[in-house]
Amino acid sequence: MNSKHLNFVLTVCILFLAPFAGKAQKATIEHRVDSVLNLMTLEEKIGQMNQYSGFWEATGPITEEGNKLEQVRTGQLGSMLNINGVDHTRKLQELAMQSRLKIPLLFGQDVVHGYRTMFPIPLGEAASWDLEAIEHSARIAATEASAAGIHWTFAPMVDIGRDPRWGRVMEGAGEDPYLGSLIAAARVKGFQGKGYGNTDAVMACAKHFAAYGAAEAGRDYNSVDMSYRMLNEIYLKPYKAAVEAGVATLMNSFNDINGIPATANSYIQRDLLKGQWKFDGFVVSDWGSIGEMINHGYSKDCYQAAQQAITAGSDMDMESRCYIGNLAQLVKDGKVDIKLIDDAVRRILTKKFEMGLFDDPFKYCNEEREKQQWNNPANLEVERDVAKKSIVLLKNDNQLLPLDTKKKAIAMIGPLAKAVRENIGFWSYAWPDDSIRIVTQWQGIRTRAGKNITMTYAKGCEINDSSKAGFAEAVNIARQADVVILSIGEAANMSGEAKSRSNIHLPGVQEELVKAVCATGKPVIVLINAGRPLVFNWTADHAQAILYTWWLGTEAGNAIADVIFGDYNPSGKLPCTFPRTEGQIPIYYNHFSTGRPPKTDSDVNYVSSYIDLPNSPKFPFGYGLSYTTFKYSEPLLSKTTMNSNDKIEIKVSVTNTGNYDGKETVQLYIRDLVGSVVRPVKQLIGFQQVFLKKGETKELTFTIGIDDLKFYDYNVNLIAEPGDFEVFVGGNSATELKKTFTLL
Ligand code: BGC
Repeated sequence: MNSKHLNFVLTVCILFLAPFAGKAQKATIEHRVDSVLNLMTLEEKIGQMNQYSGFWEATGPITEEGNKLEQVRTGQLGSMLNINGVDHTRKLQELAMQSRLKIPLLFGQDVVHGYRTMFPIPLGEAASWDLEAIEHSARIAATEASAAGIHWTFAPMVDIGRDPRWGRVMEGAGEDPYLGSLIAAARVKGFQGKGYGNTDAVMACAKHFAAYGAAEAGRDYNSVDMSYRMLNEIYLKPYKAAVEAGVATLMNSFNDINGIPATANSYIQRDLLKGQWKFDGFVVSDWGSIGEMINHGYSKDCYQAAQQAITAGSDMDMESRCYIGNLAQLVKDGKVDIKLIDDAVRRILTKKFEMGLFDDPFKYCNEEREKQQWNNPANLEVERDVAKKSIVLLKNDNQLLPLDTKKKAIAMIGPLAKAVRENIGFWSYAWPDDSIRIVTQWQGIRTRAGKNITMTYAKGCEINDSSKAGFAEAVNIARQADVVILSIGEAANMSGEAKSRSNIHLPGVQEELVKAVCATGKPVIVLINAGRPLVFNWTADHAQAILYTWWLGTEAGNAIADVIFGDYNPSGKLPCTFPRTEGQIPIYYNHFSTGRPPKTDSDVNYVSSYIDLPNSPKFPFGYGLSYTTFKYSEPLLSKTTMNSNDKIEIKVSVTNTGNYDGKETVQLYIRDLVGSVVRPVKQLIGFQQVFLKKGETKELTFTIGIDDLKFYDYNVNLIAEPGDFEVFVGGNSATELKKTFTLL
């Protein structure tokens, strides 16, 4: 047998035997978990269900809580969060090894969009619609975090956000369940790599289960009241996708759902997640959410809260101390069946075994690896790549961009132009060398502009302040320049947890600064940095070019320079609808028709509209320009009827009709014209990214099958109903390029 044959035989053997090896390993772990469980006292079991935050900041000890250390030593703690760095995790793990059964601790951390290298905020990355790039970013984050002793990230956040007032839209993938599900799976795969248990991977945690993003009025932690049909149709899909992608854990949420706090919601945690979806990982509560059920008015005290939470399937208590304080008594009082405790502990221990921590509790404590990942230039390159792909070109009148390098004088203005930490946004780590590592927008553009271009700078105003004292200087340098780059937006702490805003206009006097600078008559390129869709109508109507840059991460300045000078042709598309004003919120593209849909934006005659505002958004979902232009052919359907076993192919040709090579995200939407429950006016069911050289045409094929046409009916059954469908193709959700077909 030659080596080619041998390889072939080996590959076949591996493929054939792999499932058996996986099963054998599972059986071994089950066996080992049971043997540990048999040795445990009730108190030790409850200890595994208990999680505390650490007592170190990233840079050193802040307080010494002897009690917590003692609890580690006596096996009353299963996991800690906010402990990072090999040195710190090792010290605590050594303490855990002094406990009777030597059960290792799990170290969790919010590695939301990077650890040492900060990546674009998740909403920004979602604008890339580039699943590979998104997975890659999570991969790097996991590599860096695991090298710092972290086992488990509290990410991805997969909550659908239809309300930009909610500050946590920055952490998710936007408003669409289809795109959101694909991104959820990509992030899980990225974090978990070839499988958690490998030293370059972390366990992922899909959060916040469930419907946290639907908080009433966009106010963080607020109530959610919606039909179970809607919950399944829109909000639960990305969690399900995360489970299907093998996510290790889920975190539940602070909100109540239809009157029951998610933490005590058996329908979602036991019936759906652990029942129908067969999720075999564990559920951690959100920070204090078990104890907070007292504030909700759902639990009388911690004793009752612990009972309700464990009954509903919350396995680990983050920081409320209700489990450690009450579960033993609840078992003794006959209020909680020991089987529930055993099930929770079994789930937690299984993950510790799968992580390899029982075999080597110090597996993730490798100083060499930590050092190597601390300054890994390759990670910065990946960051820059994802960052440039996340930028969305909203406007480009007279082809102002890419910037003509014949323009010899640039005035760079605005409170974000030289900002440092604002570039990395909320949920980011403050490292001592941030001021050297983070590439500011000024630095990135200055470096790329080169010696032949002069650059001047004026801040103009603060991010959120009423003073216009800096306007005169800004206007003055604008007058002397050939072109102005104006960097404005939110501060890093204006979107994120507990950062809901009722007013999502540009903060402070920034839009007035835009007006003052535009009044000079100079061409103005505006960079908008934010963690959510903002309202900026004057700027949108008057500035010649606008790039929405979110918060782009460590390499922000370089990525922006890549786009401004045309080294990268922008390809981002909005993952969420941009409203004209707060009064339109919630606003999303996949809404229902109503019985009185307006015919046009100005139709107000007893139709479902505002008398003072069009229904259409400022920028629709899926929107984003390129330096080039794309022309779509009429879509061609392989047939116009299908039955449930059929597939229909849709072919569309896209031509690059402009002057630059570029990438287009071609989107496919359907509308189910008549349903047993009303159906959205459009619904994304596919997209493809295509790179086209100047003048080039490519034909793309999409395939629609029965699963693409399914929805949850009134009784929450997933079905497809015979009838007529419209299928739309285009570069954003406002496309009217459509054909019809019938499901028989
Ligand atoms: C947040 C979670 C986070 C946890 C731990 C909570 O306040 O809602 O998303 O993972 O804190 O930091």
